[in-house]
Amino acid sequence: MPAFGILGAQWGDEGKGKIVDFLAEQATMVVRFSGGNNAGHTVINNKGEFKLHLVPSGVFWQHVTPVIAAGVVVDLAQLIEEIDALEERGVDTQRLVLSDHAHVVMPYHVQLDHLEEQARGNNAIGTTGRGIGPAYVDKAARVGIRTGDLLDEAYFAQRLEPVVAQKNALLTKVYGAEPIDEAAIYKQALEYGARLRRYVGSAEQVVGQALRHGERVVLEGAQGAMLDLDHGTYPYVTSSSPMIGGALTGAGVGPHQIAGAVGVFKAYSTRVGGGPMVTELDDEVGNEIRERAWEYGTTTGRPRRVGWFDGVAARYSAQVNGFTSCVLTRLDVLDGISPVRLCVAYELDGKRLEDFPSVLSVLERCEPVWEDLPGWTNPTAGATRFAQLPEEAKGFILRLQQVIGTPIDMISTGPKREETIVVRQIVS
Ligand code: IMP
Repeated sequence: MPAFGILGAQWGDEGKGKIVDFLAEQATMVVRFSGGNNAGHTVINNKGEFKLHLVPSGVFWQHVTPVIAAGVVVDLAQLIEEIDALEERGVDTQRLVLSDHAHVVMPYHVQLDHLEEQARGNNAIGTTGRGIGPAYVDKAARVGIRTGDLLDEAYFAQRLEPVVAQKNALLTKVYGAEPIDEAAIYKQALEYGARLRRYVGSAEQVVGQALRHGERVVLEGAQGAMLDLDHGTYPYVTSSSPMIGGALTGAGVGPHQIAGAVGVFKAYSTRVGGGPMVTELDDEVGNEIRERAWEYGTTTGRPRRVGWFDGVAARYSAQVNGFTSCVLTRLDVLDGISPVRLCVAYELDGKRLEDFPSVLSVLERCEPVWEDLPGWTNPTAGATRFAQLPEEAKGFILRLQQVIGTPIDMISTGPKREETIVVRQIVS
């Protein structure tokens, strides 16, 4: 059972990139299974600092095959730019496999993402503006273009024509925008397709074969469970499934092939865009965490909303993913802050709620029930063994583990590969 899902357990930006890069050493394949270039994964290793949006974080290991699977939506220009930038810095991308089933984010998706957000006014979702929602809409409506379609000019033309007609009606009649130039879009997509042709193939076959051979495969999540289309804080969510279910569908693997669903949690919470955030901090501590941890979007540069760890959301996330194990990241950001707060329940109309409310209007009215724990003055930054941690930090981790209800098997104490504590081997 050699596949492991490494999944965002909060609202994304938990530091999955570093964790996937770290665990990839023991794998032969890293598979991105959902989302698109709305994600921004930062990896710092012996080659430098990299910000990846589409290319799987395992690309830095020569023995790893990076795979972009069917569940991902791909902005071709962005992917080409990322491949070129990696190659320029000496990172070999030749092994990359791009699923011929992966849908393409077309220029009209990006345009529509912006127009739809404008039209939402005060109810804007705060999307990343990368065309992700509109691309998944077309996928579900069965009018999407897949990377494999670009390899057959006539078939691509046949698929594109009715979509452009429909998008032009939408753009001109609903949004009063200029129509799109079908010929230009067609030509450009074919050029991108030709450029990427060497990578395009059946990702399911490649992944399936690795699993049949008993190889270890890391399924790399993007975004986080609270942004899941089904289980997140709808409608303030992304348009894909960043959870373990999405990993199975997006990568094309079966449940018996999954050895672990690993939830990556940050030691506090952040959220980008709109939607409720019960533990949000609107004070100096929040600002300090934001600046110290540089909580600004990797993709958009937007300041992230910051809050204390939300134990209610964490328990829910663990439940809907069936986490077998957790990773705690950015512990070092809390060094020197005291007390450290933890939300253990919500309160609504004088009643204590232990479970995450499923109705948004209820969630919006919830207040946090805090538990204050003593902070620590000795730094955790750079620690590589649990025993090295200050007693207060150990106490915080053990309490988080209790609240989530799943063991914390790895702790990240800094952005570099080696700044990691392995409490128990996750990928074995
Ligand atoms: P979209 O995925 O661009 O449609 O954005 C929908 C929501 O998901 C917005 O609140 C975004 O800020 C959020 N989102 C999408 N991708 C990420 C991510 O990688 N990290 C954090 N938030 C994200």
